[in-house]
Amino acid sequence: MEETTLVLIKPGGVERNLIGEIVRRIEARGLRVVGLKLMSAPKALVQEHYAEHKARPFFKDVVAYLTSGPVVALAVRGENAVKAVRAMMGATNPIEASAGTVRGDFALSIDDNLTHSSSDVKAAKAELKLWFSEKLPR
Ligand code: CMP
Repeated sequence: MEETTLVLIKPGGVERNLIGEIVRRIEARGLRVVGLKLMSAPKALVQEHYAEHKARPFFKDVVAYLTSGPVVALAVRGENAVKAVRAMMGATNPIEASAGTVRGDFALSIDDNLTHSSSDVKAAKAELKLWFSEKLPR
């Protein structure tokens, strides 16, 4: 089924000039970028984005990291886009991510795991609403 998902390229990914590489992989897979913005994310937006992790010990650090520099927000559309993108990014902890995934190829630390992508269709809907308040193309 066609789905749209949210991908964030975190400040470490932007800093390391990985925007093009990550977008290239997404497009090469056959997925379509239907929204794209480079922005300094407001703290309140990031706190809401990670609200489910509020009680976790890493919450403060992940919010600080996401607001430490520019991020790229992408709306990515295609067949089974949510699962396809998650698989392409690799395990949350890069040390467990397979080679050939973004994290398996470019990251080592869970605190700097380069990207976020929506965990399921429900989360994708909520996250896209948060990061793309403007209407996305159909
Ligand atoms: P992300 O997919 O953006 O969702 C939450 C983020 O918190 C995660 O990627 C990591 O960057 C960060 N994080 C730090 N420590 C942990 C942890 N122990 N478990 C899950 N996420 C963590």
